[in-house]
Amino acid sequence: MASPAPSSPLPRIRVLATGGTIAGAQTVGSRGYQAAAFSIEALVSAVPQLATLARLEVEQVAAIGSQDMDEAVWLRLAARTQAALAEPDIAAVVITHGTDTMEETGYFLNLVVPSAKPVVLVGAMRPATEMSADGPMNLYNAVAVAAHPETGGRGVLVVANDEIHFAREVAKTNTTQVGTFKATHRGLAGLVHAGRLHLYAPPVRAHTTQSEFAGPLPAALPRVDIVYAHAGMGRELVDAAVRAGAKGLVVAGVGDGNLHANALSACAAAARAGVAVVRSSRTGGGVVERNIEIPDDELGFIAADELNPQKARVLLMLGLTRTAAPAALQALFYRY
Ligand code: SIN
Repeated sequence: MASPAPSSPLPRIRVLATGGTIAGAQTVGSRGYQAAAFSIEALVSAVPQLATLARLEVEQVAAIGSQDMDEAVWLRLAARTQAALAEPDIAAVVITHGTDTMEETGYFLNLVVPSAKPVVLVGAMRPATEMSADGPMNLYNAVAVAAHPETGGRGVLVVANDEIHFAREVAKTNTTQVGTFKATHRGLAGLVHAGRLHLYAPPVRAHTTQSEFAGPLPAALPRVDIVYAHAGMGRELVDAAVRAGAKGLVVAGVGDGNLHANALSACAAAARAGVAVVRSSRTGGGVVERNIEIPDDELGFIAADELNPQKARVLLMLGLTRTAAPAALQALFYRY
């Protein structure tokens, strides 16, 4: 069915493309595929219905699988997002992205974009050439979310599988299923069915225009490594990260951000040497609180509060551009 003719000019939206499975191509009979094979022009022209939602313009910022996303691409993408949103006539930005690291990119942008205009990340779990590919509807829904007059001021959003998520809250939880994105703590930002939106409560934590990191971007980000805790964990990986020049360490701890005594003493030595040590959890949910089984005050550690290890790393990298003081860094984890 044709959509009704719009009564006012359609919003101008810039689509920034980075690659991912949404742009992936598969050969018939093969389970493997190549991410980022299709250009953003090809993805947009495959969904002619987009023309009923917005006046789109496209820019290919990168063409990678998001496993290759890194700090340099984040900074370039953030700069292109900021530049687009600074244009008075641009109403919103949509970013196509692989799902693997979308939660990290989305949270980074949530902290550095100084605009209340909508920024919406979108990806797909099935390559564009796959049977029942989810990319076209996800892209259509993402543009509908970006074009909607009430989605501004909610921080960076992620759209997939008819769901709207806050970038801060969302995590990829399944290797293959289209319903991979979940927000354990605070739930959905809304739903979107074939472009029709149902918006829920706005986000709680500070973002975009309220963020002290929003604005001029740093030239580079400090090295922060993640170490994954497990039964019988030794100190070697912690020591290696410090030797490699890490300014910060995030521990994907067991349970409430705990770790074996061997690794704990290595982290304590790292903190004494001025490395910022953040305790997060490998559990996938829950809050890491201070001073429960580990004496954070005494050891100079920081608790990740609600952030999973990969998001804690993003905030720690930005935080370390301003301060290395554990108390000041801890305050960031309660604010963002
Ligand atoms: C990627 O993250 O680039 C690959 C996986 C995906 O996009 O779903």
